[in-house]
Amino acid sequence: MAKNLVGVRGSFFDFVDDPWKFIGQEEKSARFYSDGLLVTENGIIRDFGPFEKVSQKYPNLHFTHIKNRLILPGFIDGHVHVPQTRVIGSFGEQLLGWLQQWIFPEEMKYKDRSYAREGARQCLDNLLAAGTTTCQAYTTSFAVSTEEFFEEASRRNMLVVGGLTGIDRFAPDEYIDTAQNFQRDTARLIKTYHRTGRNIYAITPRFALGASHDLMVACQNLKREFPDAWVHTHISENPSEITQLKQFHQCNDYLSVYEKYDLVGKKFTGGHGVYLSDDEFRRIAKADAAITFCPCSNFFLGSGMFRLGRATDPEHRIRLTFGTDVGAGNRFSMINVLDEAYKVGMCNNTMLDGSIDPRNQNLPEAERNKLSPYRAFYSLTLGGAHGLYLDDRIGNFEVGKEADFVVLDWAAGQRAIAWHESLLVGANGPQTMDEAAQLLFSIMILGDDRNVDETWIMAERVYQKTVSEQTASARK
Ligand code: GUN
Ligand code: ZN
Repeated sequence: MAKNLVGVRGSFFDFVDDPWKFIGQEEKSARFYSDGLLVTENGIIRDFGPFEKVSQKYPNLHFTHIKNRLILPGFIDGHVHVPQTRVIGSFGEQLLGWLQQWIFPEEMKYKDRSYAREGARQCLDNLLAAGTTTCQAYTTSFAVSTEEFFEEASRRNMLVVGGLTGIDRFAPDEYIDTAQNFQRDTARLIKTYHRTGRNIYAITPRFALGASHDLMVACQNLKREFPDAWVHTHISENPSEITQLKQFHQCNDYLSVYEKYDLVGKKFTGGHGVYLSDDEFRRIAKADAAITFCPCSNFFLGSGMFRLGRATDPEHRIRLTFGTDVGAGNRFSMINVLDEAYKVGMCNNTMLDGSIDPRNQNLPEAERNKLSPYRAFYSLTLGGAHGLYLDDRIGNFEVGKEADFVVLDWAAGQRAIAWHESLLVGANGPQTMDEAAQLLFSIMILGDDRNVDETWIMAERVYQKTVSEQTASARK
């Protein structure tokens, strides 16, 4: 038997399909083994299934037995700003004022390599402690910060998407760069980092309001020269931003700016999309592009409420990731993102149920706004991987995928949660998919990063909550 086989036994929950396709029968999209076995070789999944069945094939396998926990594929954060780690939770402004007052001054400090390295270290450690194993990240307009991000991620062996963040207007002179420099530096960084180790490179115009025609042309050139690179940006986040954008780029809608420069297609992600029109949703779906839903940030900056039920309309179902958008998002934990996402759906439905104005009634869309635990955890795992065009590598426990996963303690965190869980499951934990799904719902609504007990990357444990953080539900 090969020496580098690693086995993990425990209760596993993952997804094989999109739960929005199975209205009323969402369990068809999921898979649950109350006693399962995951076998990996060199970090790649070699076998997965019920313990009784799989273990017979590996009689000498040494495995780690994780009891009284739920094991899920690692969480995927589709949109995070690494250099905003130290200014998370800054007071008092909406998007455009917040950028000027808090964000650009902080990001300017990332010109300094050691400051950038420490910021990347802090950010990635926070993500791992929150159970996030993959992120799509912004850096700054200084190449050193992009380099340090990829170096820190590589040290943790994380699969990450990131890029030099281009802006040539709207920010202070000391922060912006020219389109020419951006194109030159990005090309060099792509050659150095794209698909080296687990790194993926995204051509990253920060947002169209911060990009002149020349910067957009630089992005167009880069995508032409490096068609395998991802594209990551912001779109339609805030009403003042959109008004200024339409004036500056002389366009009818936000998406058309990115379309004009041939950026909207596979592997394109726009963050937020709060004010996308139905027509924009249709065009994004047709292009097979993605949007990131960032509810913590959209509430924190007062940007607005993403139309989740519209984005998931089967007429124009778009690829979706969910994201923290730290530091406009005030939490590193994707569990908190689910909590806020659930509330967005409920608030949207105040309109859609027709009780305020019957003309607004749209019951199918209202149904799609309800963020069940299936829809929620699919969005952080297989759905997020699909949104990022990484579902051939991560997102569930399929044989051949890379073994990134998170171990959840359903009774950790605030005291109310342990009491709540004791009502849901017996001493041996969830025995059915329905019980497991109920636990996941209570984790997403009552929980946070304290529910993350361990995080594993390529079948190696890289984070474990310290003993003092453990609750009364310590392993038996
Ligand atoms: N649009 C342009 N830059 C940013 C940023 O840093 N955060 C958010 N939320 N939106 C942006
Ligand atoms: Zn953002």
